Amino acid sequence: MSKIIIANWKMKLSVKESLSLTERLSLGLNTKNQVIICPDFISLSLIAFLKTKKTFFLGAQDSATLAKHSLTGEVSAFNLKELGVSYVILGHSERRLYQKEDDKMINEKIKVALEAGLKVVLCLGDNKQEYQAKKTKAVIKSQLSNALKGLKLKKDSEIIIAYEPVWAIGSGMAMGAEEANEIAEFIKTSAKKFIKKPLKVLYGGSVDKNNAQLFLKQKNLQGLLVGGASLKAEEFLSICNN
Ligand code: PGA
Repeated sequence: MSKIIIANWKMKLSVKESLSLTERLSLGLNTKNQVIICPDFISLSLIAFLKTKKTFFLGAQDSATLAKHSLTGEVSAFNLKELGVSYVILGHSERRLYQKEDDKMINEKIKVALEAGLKVVLCLGDNKQEYQAKKTKAVIKSQLSNALKGLKLKKDSEIIIAYEPVWAIGSGMAMGAEEANEIAEFIKTSAKKFIKKPLKVLYGGSVDKNNAQLFLKQKNLQGLLVGGASLKAEEFLSICNN
């Protein structure tokens, strides 16, 4: 079955590097999997206008809490939609940590993004202390219910969950695939109250070309959110094209 594979380039590439990686991916992708690339905002708007064949969908790494407002420096979900962007990552742990985003803000962002017609990739994850104290499920349940509170989902609204243990992000120490599968099952059960249709859950955190297939084989995982390993064309292509 086809999987969803998301490249999160964060703020790691120059504009030139983003454009050249995009060209290489558009030529090299040859897969039934649905590939979504999420460059920084400046590169994203340039890539949206590239004439190259788009063998992938475009995603943004964030969007604003309001549709249109005096919000200096923010980017509206509606403008992303106008540009041809299909997905937006919301609630990434780096934004929770460094930009001090809380569940309430994430909830507001989700509402606006869905209203704009974007598909939302909601990131959830426990940190190392929470994981070691076996609080993973409690943390996820609380992040999930706070983020999805009061949402009125339309028939065509789509929310995908990316489970990313914070300690696994960028550390080179991915979670075991079977454990991720078990948590994905828990997420699906917990989300039933809020989302009636079948939910897709992705795993993220130090995915690379050696472990990607182990995750993709798991019954409860419908794809991957890839950071570091999505920055090199060959490695990312080998994850996607397999
Ligand atoms: P990583 O990042 O693959 O480099 O661990 C994943 C993410 O932050 O989404």
